[in-house]
Amino acid sequence: MAEDKKRDWDFAGIAGGYEKYLVPVLSMWTEPLFEKTDLENGEDVLDFACGTGSVIRTLTDHLDAPGRLVGLDVEPAMLDVARSRAKQLPVDVQWHQADAADMPFADESFDVAYCQQGLQFMDDSVAALSEAHRVLRPNGRLALSVWSHLDDSPHYAVLTEALQNHIGDRAAAAMRAPFDALSSPGKLRRCIESAGFRGIDVEGVTHRISYPGAEEFFRREIVSWLADAVGDLSDRSRKAIVTDLQQGLQRYIDADGLEVPMRALVARGTK
Ligand SMILES: C[S@@+](CC[C@H](N)C(=O)[O-])C[C@H]1O[C@@H](n2cnc3c(N)ncnc32)[C@H](O)[C@@H]1O
Repeated sequence: MAEDKKRDWDFAGIAGGYEKYLVPVLSMWTEPLFEKTDLENGEDVLDFACGTGSVIRTLTDHLDAPGRLVGLDVEPAMLDVARSRAKQLPVDVQWHQADAADMPFADESFDVAYCQQGLQFMDDSVAALSEAHRVLRPNGRLALSVWSHLDDSPHYAVLTEALQNHIGDRAAAAMRAPFDALSSPGKLRRCIESAGFRGIDVEGVTHRISYPGAEEFFRREIVSWLADAVGDLSDRSRKAIVTDLQQGLQRYIDADGLEVPMRALVARGTK
């Protein structure tokens, strides 16, 4: 299972497409992370599994005098995009390449830790949260998001089925994995609790996501995260998948394109 996750979720080749198409979607759930932690100027912040750095960039729109800002990710290509985008920021950010289960930071060095849509990709999410707990100061706050169950995001449910039917098990499993691992509030809460956090709160937050159409939704998925799992795609399979998407998502499609609900779980905890 752990090996499969690594193989199917190789973020190395997709950082550019990820930044262009997925970051605007994920960012819709960034605000609640700040709300749940009452972030203030001067506080030291860690964003682990930071990807291309969008949480830290958004944070600098909110605070004029943040404390130390640190992003950590295991994937160098994602950090390259993060570093490049951060050059435009009015503050310095430190970027570290490391596994979240083994953070290169001293005990009690941060006031707040964030993890946006990262935990479900990790081999050992409790180990990563335990590290976050270790590096937070007493009463430090954690906020994170993961996707809710696949059925709460119909475009991904229909796409998973289409991948299963027209490509096979591996592509469907890759698509399903991030909507599976921690997608129930109870499971997520237990995971955060096991790492030593208290005062845990888990909330489901739904947004509507717009795409120019079903075909463009599929194209964006390929270039922003699915390319490796899908492999070489024949014209015939591509057309069959798009037809399944158009039929399965009919009720969400009109003259303006595809507009579909998507649900994330947003959680907080205190050290
Ligand atoms: C879906 S992306 C989310 C990135 C970012 N938080 C955002 O909101 O755009 C998941 C990220 O988790 C990172 N990741 C996966 N396993 C990790 C681990 N064990 N330690 C650190 N980062 C990890 C991946 O490299 C990838 O950048």
